[in-house]
Amino acid sequence: MDKFSITGPCRVMKGEVSISGSKNAALPILAATLLFDKTVIIENLPRVRDIDTMLNLLKSLGSNIQFLNNKKTVKITKTKKQKQFASYSIVKTMRAGILVLGPLVAKYHKSISSFPGGCVLNGNSGRPINLHLEALKKLGMKYEIKKGYIHAKSNGKLKGDKINFPSISVGASQQLLMSAVLAKGKTLLHNLACEPEIKDLTNFLISAGAKIKWIGKRTCQIIGVNSLKETKYTVMGDRIETGTFCVAATVAKGDLLIKNFDPKLIKTELNLLKKVGAKIKLFKNSIHVKGPERIKSIKNITTKEYPGFPTDLAPQFMVLLCKASGTSSITENIFQGRFLHAMELQRLGGKITIKNRTAKIEGNTNFIAAEVMSSDLRASAALVLAGIVSKGNTIVTRVYHCDRGYENFENKLKKIGVNIKRLK
Ligand code: EPU
Repeated sequence: MDKFSITGPCRVMKGEVSISGSKNAALPILAATLLFDKTVIIENLPRVRDIDTMLNLLKSLGSNIQFLNNKKTVKITKTKKQKQFASYSIVKTMRAGILVLGPLVAKYHKSISSFPGGCVLNGNSGRPINLHLEALKKLGMKYEIKKGYIHAKSNGKLKGDKINFPSISVGASQQLLMSAVLAKGKTLLHNLACEPEIKDLTNFLISAGAKIKWIGKRTCQIIGVNSLKETKYTVMGDRIETGTFCVAATVAKGDLLIKNFDPKLIKTELNLLKKVGAKIKLFKNSIHVKGPERIKSIKNITTKEYPGFPTDLAPQFMVLLCKASGTSSITENIFQGRFLHAMELQRLGGKITIKNRTAKIEGNTNFIAAEVMSSDLRASAALVLAGIVSKGNTIVTRVYHCDRGYENFENKLKKIGVNIKRLK
């Protein structure tokens, strides 16, 4: 298993970082290609493990995958051998594997899909898919669960209906948006997640002729169409990678120009970074961040659905707040078990206590390097950030988590002055 070796503290972090395509936007867009008969070209794919897993899943379902030029563009064509079986052996490592269920039933009226795997973020509650299944049932999908697989079918086309999600879920919103596109008649989806990655999915589907209209912040109207037409679509930049580099510059007193991302999409995060003292300049598609000499603490950061503060940046902000000049707190409202990184930060000297869903972070930490273990994707990024500001040689193990979602992470960090290498 690969590890990162980081020698810190990084004294001069400076330069430019080019943000990759968004993993969490690309995954549902790739799943949605199952709805097509025609060829689809997707540009700006991040080359990370989760994307490879999704491409393997599509291949196993019979899609023909052809990489063009720089391997960040992919041409997907359906074959006559389409299957509807999403195997556990592929989806066990990735939660987004469940996103093929709705498109398969919408297009072929049947599917056998494995329960998905992915980061363990919710303690004993696991990562349920009840919202996906209940909503698909309303569109006419029937299912049975046998031996870890969802055996689903519909009597012909799915049928449009009104669905009011009892709570907000990114994945269930994507699942239903995709499934309703080929359903008979009108579907109204209320209480949808409105993350930029969801807008990217609806823009992609609209580019192929889907009749989707946002008629409120969290409501969409979809009129079913018979088929989707050929399209070429460029995936948006990665919001969480952008946020991670903004935090890196702030915590390491760096000076970074972060390119290829629209700053309007991360207003909440940038406002918090300004609050802790970062100097931030915004451009049309880039952000200049200069870290302060003294980082100020913040009380009550609370993770929330977009446009609130994202759970996927809470671990990175925890590292930042360990270096603040006073006590801060972060409350996790999306995934209750998402604090495993806190224990590893304590091994580096972080003074963090967790009570229920809130982490109290004391600040004024002088991190001292140690060996630490990644527990999930964003935790691994946080541990790398901590290594950057720790004294000595930090070893971050299990970086396969990081490889699931950060493209070229160590090379991007090396380019801006971080002493990091991958140990095989
Ligand atoms: N939930 C249910 N039932 C469901 C679905 C979700 O109870 O059927 C609960 C979850 O257990 C969780 C909450 O609802 O407590 C929110 O989960 P959501 O469905 O919104 O998350 P997701 O679709 O599984 C996506 C991202 C995550 C990100 C969350 C929240 C992808 C592939 N994953 O997950 O990204 O943390 O939204 O924003 O888009 C990551 O990239 O590191 C990552 C974990």
